[in-house]
Order: sequence, then C-alpha cells, then structure tokens
Amino acid sequence: MNTVKHGAKSLRDMKSITPIPMLTAYTTPVARCLEKAGIPVILVGDSVGMVEMGFESTRRVTIEHMRYHIGGVRRGAPNTHIVGDLPYGTDRDPDTAVQSAMLLLDAGADTVKLEGPKYDVIRALVASGIDVVGHTGLTPQTSTNFRQVGREAEDAKRILDEATGIAASGAYMVVLEHMPDVLAQTVTRSLTIPTIGIGAGAFCDGQVLVINDAIGLGEKWPPFSRQYAYVSEIITEAAAAFVHQVKEGAF
Ligand code: KIV
Repeated sequence: MNTVKHGAKSLRDMKSITPIPMLTAYTTPVARCLEKAGIPVILVGDSVGMVEMGFESTRRVTIEHMRYHIGGVRRGAPNTHIVGDLPYGTDRDPDTAVQSAMLLLDAGADTVKLEGPKYDVIRALVASGIDVVGHTGLTPQTSTNFRQVGREAEDAKRILDEATGIAASGAYMVVLEHMPDVLAQTVTRSLTIPTIGIGAGAFCDGQVLVINDAIGLGEKWPPFSRQYAYVSEIITEAAAAFVHQVKEGAF
C-alpha cells in the first residue's frame, strides 16, 4: 500500500481516522485558519475557478492556476494533508496525468484528485508513487448541469461500478458528489477506502465542502451546503463602514 502523507506525518489507513472533515482552501490565510481549526485534509479544488476566479465552469482552470493556489495553501497549512485537483484535460492520458500530478506535488500538494472512471490513469499515478483521490457522482468538469445524479437504477449502478473501479485501481479515497444518501451509503459500505461526501448524505466516511459555500462567501450556494457564517455580508458591512468614515472625514 502507498504511504499517504498527512503534512509531515504519514497516514497508512485513512479509514481509521473517519469521520474525516475536509474543506477546500485556495489561499494562505484561509488555509492557516483551517489548520488551526484542526481540519486534517484540505482540498485545493478546481472549484477555485468558479468561486474565486469568476469563471462559469471549472474547465477554464489550468495547471498554473492550481500551482499558484496550492503553493499559497501549503504556506498557510504546512502540517496539513493537501489534495490538489488535476484540472480539466491534464489527466487525459496516463503520461500527461503523471506529468501534471508531479507539477501539483512540486507546488505543495501531498496527493492529487481526479474526476471520473479513469482507471488506467489512476493505476499509472499510483505506480509512479502518487497517491490518488477519486471522484464520482456529479463530476463538474464534464457534467452539463449541477443536478443530483444516481436517482435512476441504471445511473446508481454506474456510480457504484465507478466507485468500485476507482478503488480497485488504487485510489486511497473517493469523493461522492450530489447523489441520494442511500446510494452513497451503499457505496460506502461496499468499499474499504473512505468515501467523502458532498451533497451525498451523512453516511459517508467524511464530508467535504467548498469553503466559500461553508462561510457564505459569494452570492449563491448549492442547496446541500450549509453556511456556518455569512462572510459576504461581513465584508460588505466593513467596506460600507469604511466608505462612510472616509466620506465623513473620520478616517
Ligand atoms: O473542486 C472541488 O472543490 C471539488 C469538491 C466539490 C469536491 O472537487
């Protein structure tokens, strides 16, 4: 089995530290907060393209964008396990994926995540000593909408088969996105690697949220995400107070 790093430490069996709370981060100050709060795994997701860069889709994110954000997160969270997302197209074949993954590791990631049933790519990464998180269910790089998947029996079977194939190919963890709770529970029970849910109910081995959704930074958030704060409002109020004080000559 590959050794999965947890910052400076080593985690041989992620399932043994369940339930796993995971959040995304894209910048140094946020990563610093997550490490301080005891988040064991940070995902530098390609969601950065939509929630921080204003793109309509994650497909616009490049490997250089990811390196920039992974570097910032690593500097803020030197002791936390960091997963870096392989952006769209950079995992299109095994050789390209290994080269892309090396760039993310070089920027500060411990391991990489990729979307979909790319079994040959996962096997090649693992054979090169690179640990992999899989991702099935709703896969934003290729889906045309953000609706829940896996409601029909055929689609549910596809997702279960994909999760099984991802695990069999050597992934150490798999993200299950936006599917019925009962399907995520079935997948979780049938795998020996941990499942990390996002909009997939409470029966996964861990949960991941996009940090901007979790802290209410932005204008709209997925229905399955909870807001633990409303940071957009705080920023707006602070900026408005500053405007007021400058206009009044009080600052
Ligand atoms: O890019 C991302 O943030 C993700 C999560 C939604 C799991 O893939």
